[in-house]
Amino acid sequence: MVFSVGLTYNLKQKVSENLGLPVDFFAEFDDEETVDAIYSAIKKAGCEVTKIEADQNAYGKLLDLKPEIVFNIAEGLHGEGREAQIPAILEMLKIPYTGSGPVTLAISLNKSLTHQILCANGVAAPKFIVYNNVNEINDVQLPFPLVVKPIAEGSGKGIRSNSLVRDFQSLKNQVAWVTENYHQPAIVEEFIEGREFTVGLIGNKKPFVLPIVEITFDKLPEGSNPLYAYEAKWIWDVPEKPLDIFVCPAKIPKSLETEIKDTAVKAFQALKCRDVCRMDIRLDKNGKPNVLDLNPLPGMIPDPDAHSCLPEAAMTAGYSYDQLICTILWQAILRNNLQDKCAETSIKQNSRLIR
Ligand SMILES: Nc1ncnc2c1ncn2[C@@H]1O[C@H](COP(=O)(O)OP(=O)(O)OP(=O)(O)O)[C@@H](O)[C@H]1O
Ligand SMILES: [Mg+2]
Repeated sequence: MVFSVGLTYNLKQKVSENLGLPVDFFAEFDDEETVDAIYSAIKKAGCEVTKIEADQNAYGKLLDLKPEIVFNIAEGLHGEGREAQIPAILEMLKIPYTGSGPVTLAISLNKSLTHQILCANGVAAPKFIVYNNVNEINDVQLPFPLVVKPIAEGSGKGIRSNSLVRDFQSLKNQVAWVTENYHQPAIVEEFIEGREFTVGLIGNKKPFVLPIVEITFDKLPEGSNPLYAYEAKWIWDVPEKPLDIFVCPAKIPKSLETEIKDTAVKAFQALKCRDVCRMDIRLDKNGKPNVLDLNPLPGMIPDPDAHSCLPEAAMTAGYSYDQLICTILWQAILRNNLQDKCAETSIKQNSRLIR
């Protein structure tokens, strides 16, 4: 019996071909190598795999193909609900898929809504103010330094080393830059100053937490601020010259490890994430883990030198890249009771059983 898997994604384009867009416009989309690596992992497990670019023709293609399940890494084309678009279409077509649903994806792209849900569930997150434009800034109710970001982006879009502002004029400049270039409100957050970690989770009700990755700031170029911003993600750290700022597993005491892992699981559950998520956590001045950002569609670049943190953490836990993909797919298969339909594939055998 053939087990048919769709693979939905959005491909990066070069910004030079699209004059007038910010340099980081396509940062959240994927390279062909990532799509091919996922394709090959699923194919090797004995499935029939069809790639479907998540553009405006995706609906018709999914309707025609009606795969048993979709492996979704699509970030969506435009709009604040873009990450939710493919899952929403799949739900309309009653096609199961990997990862979180439309509500989780749309909310976690919005940093203000995410912080509110985290706080309501007892997870610490930065205090924040949202400005629609620079004229709204009067007296600032939060102490400097502050971090200024677009309210609904990921992959470091709109976050540069100078997004950390220390005075009123820099705050105004940065809010103006965000609102004018990214055409959306700016979120201004208190600066959570301590050590930074990124934490990958796989699974469902009680997700398995992968080894914690610490992001260190001491090897960033001199004069830069301690932020894992766009430059550190995509300019200073390239596979040809990898930046040595990642420590996995993080060298931390057991008690802190437990505290970070518990926080991550609580956040995963609060946002109703499914199958996989990566989140950024930073310690505040009292050493308490604050959740900065949830990524239910985490980067999945196969090249270890590209420093895609979730695959990196999975490798540390002993997963091969193919096993990571099969493990995520297997979680979605279990959730949707599709075990019988894929009995002739080796997805289960290629997945790592989650404790
Ligand atoms: N409130 C804050 N306090 C301290 N550092 C922050 C804060 N907000 C952001 N940062 C720094 O900026 C980085 C990027 O911020 P954030 O994770 O919110 O952006 P993103 O574009 O959504 O990231 P991702 O690439 O994970 O999608 C963080 O990893 C952290 O180093
Ligand atoms: Mg982040």
